[in-house]
Amino acid sequence: MSIKTRRIGPCFAAEVEGVDLRTPLSPEEIAAIHAGMDEYAVLVFHDQIIDDEQQLAYTRCLGEMEHAIGTSLRAPDEYRLPTTFADVSNLDKDNKVFARDDRRRLFAIGNRLWHSDSSFKVVPAKYSILHARSVPSKGGNTEFAHMPAAYDALDAATKAEIADLICEHSQMYSRQQIGFFDFTDEERARFAPVRQRLVRTHPSTGRTSLYLSSHAGAIVGWPVPEARIFLRDLVEHATQRQFVYAHRWTVGDLVMWDNRQTMHRARPFPAHEPRDMRRTTLVGDGPTAAQVA
Ligand code: OGA
Ligand code: MN
Repeated sequence: MSIKTRRIGPCFAAEVEGVDLRTPLSPEEIAAIHAGMDEYAVLVFHDQIIDDEQQLAYTRCLGEMEHAIGTSLRAPDEYRLPTTFADVSNLDKDNKVFARDDRRRLFAIGNRLWHSDSSFKVVPAKYSILHARSVPSKGGNTEFAHMPAAYDALDAATKAEIADLICEHSQMYSRQQIGFFDFTDEERARFAPVRQRLVRTHPSTGRTSLYLSSHAGAIVGWPVPEARIFLRDLVEHATQRQFVYAHRWTVGDLVMWDNRQTMHRARPFPAHEPRDMRRTTLVGDGPTAAQVA
């Protein structure tokens, strides 16, 4: 079968047909998927009823994986999935829905802010691959915003101003925005900020992008409140509807996005309903900025 893509978003995002992710892909299919990611930044595959092993095999055929160890508030003995997965569900180890005030749930609600995955790591994520195993009766969409288009639409003065800016990213900054402050000393150390460029160039397409994320909470050399409001204005600009594709999930959907050229966010859904979403992630090509020694 040959791979077909059809654009479904405003200026990016495509649906893919003609791939069966239960079986190993040919080198031609793998090349077509990378080319599709470069061109569309978000690829949607429907009707992929796969298990963890099949999701891992598919992810590994595209590149080196990132591990999700120590990135949430789950203790090591509370993991529901192997650490090769980011558990994006609202479920505990026994597949029970978290209580409304569970700390792990409140931390995970940070995913409802626009972000780019693992921008809080020195080497941030390349592709994220999210598979829907169970979905709520309503809500729970995932929205994506296209950062090259958002960059292109900036005026020349703003492009010049941001060209060399460096931001500091931490999961504490994103959680502070939603009023979550209660971190332990161990968590504060684990979530220490890292540096990322605010503007980046895509290695394959050569296009320039804004590199924004809710985890960005400071700009090196700027007063914090001025940096925060500046970043907030940029996020507001970059997430205007003409740059956004909203995905409505069906069980078996697998959605892949390129974190180097998109932001995304989860949308709300009924708190007592299970939503079992499992993410595998490819590690990026390297740091975007030098770190402080
Ligand atoms: C993620 C994420 C959004 C969602 O998997 O990285 O942010 O809708 N998911 O679950
Ligand atoms: Mn995410």
